[in-house]
Amino acid sequence: MGNIILTGDRPTGRLHLGHLVGSLSQRVQLQNSGMYDEMYIEIADSQATTDNSGNIQKVKDNVIEVALDYLSCGIDPKKCTIFLQSEVPELSDLTFYYMNLVTVARLQRNPTVKQEIVYRGFQNTLPVGFMTYPISQAADITAFDANIIPVGDDQLPMIEQTREIVRTFNRLYGDTLVEPQAVLPQNTVCHRLPGTDGQAKMSKSIGNCIYLADSKEEVKRKVMGMFTDPNHLRVQDPGVTEGNPVFIYLSAFSKDKHFEEYFKNSETGEIEYKNLDELKAHYERGGLGDMKVKKFLNYVLEDTLAPIRARRHELEKHIPEVYQILFEGSEKARLKASKTLSRVKAAIGLDYRNDYDLINSQVEKYAKLHAEAETEKKTKKR
Ligand code: TRP
Repeated sequence: MGNIILTGDRPTGRLHLGHLVGSLSQRVQLQNSGMYDEMYIEIADSQATTDNSGNIQKVKDNVIEVALDYLSCGIDPKKCTIFLQSEVPELSDLTFYYMNLVTVARLQRNPTVKQEIVYRGFQNTLPVGFMTYPISQAADITAFDANIIPVGDDQLPMIEQTREIVRTFNRLYGDTLVEPQAVLPQNTVCHRLPGTDGQAKMSKSIGNCIYLADSKEEVKRKVMGMFTDPNHLRVQDPGVTEGNPVFIYLSAFSKDKHFEEYFKNSETGEIEYKNLDELKAHYERGGLGDMKVKKFLNYVLEDTLAPIRARRHELEKHIPEVYQILFEGSEKARLKASKTLSRVKAAIGLDYRNDYDLINSQVEKYAKLHAEAETEKKTKKR
């Protein structure tokens, strides 16, 4: 079997720089590498309902935002099937059978879910659906026979859960499901991009995100307001670059060409800093102000975001066509998932329509019962 790639996002907000480094750029790279047979991206709207049951409108509104973000980043629906989870009901059916293969204790140990429960204040009000979403994610992955799952490290527990379900299923019912492998982004410093305030993660509710759809002015305002080294008060002070969000962003987005373009002295042709190491060294030594670094970061981000923003602007004029892409993708996805569901049900043994042995054995069972009753009746008469 060849390579089948699957990833997904919950549509609960627009996508931001964290998504771009954490997953989107890698997806586009994979898509354009051609080193795969099928590639799927799921907009996990059903999963998003597990903690938004009272706010379905939010989920619905964000489906188009996420789709626009995908397409503007370069996801090409000709190479990659984008689909809506809720349009593929076979996924729920698979989830139902997988639920029997996972213990409650195992779900309770999932570190990502544990964190999310605290974060959402679900300690005493945990919806069963939320607790079991890792199982439904196993359905998302296995329904497509996906073996390559490009994700951020927060999703590793979901992939591990999926692998366990696959192994248990195959042991109980015979070799049926494909065991997936998580693929983390190459650039290890930025598996997860911190927020503009230096907090561990970009998060909509904290308001520390730079969105792909932000205007040039918004990006600039957010960059200029970013946290840096809190002890770097005067330009001449030595500064710390490690854990400094401005430098983390630079390591995620800056390329040597940015240094050549931005730091080249137009008269002497000399390049002030040739690469990030040189810039960092100066900051650590002292004598390099935050403002100068932030202006450079803004230049780097603009270079990254301007083409994405321009494509998004065009796509926003074609909303019905974007929905159409999702519907066509969902039909294609459904076809594949329904084949897997049939295979799964047959493996479990819930395949009545094709189970001639079962029907015959029931026929024989009743024929035998009737024959015995008949003989008994005759013996009694005598
Ligand atoms: N849980 C993922 C997230 O919150 C979204 C997701 C749903 C997903 N199904 C998936 C990711 C399957 C990878 C594979 O981002």
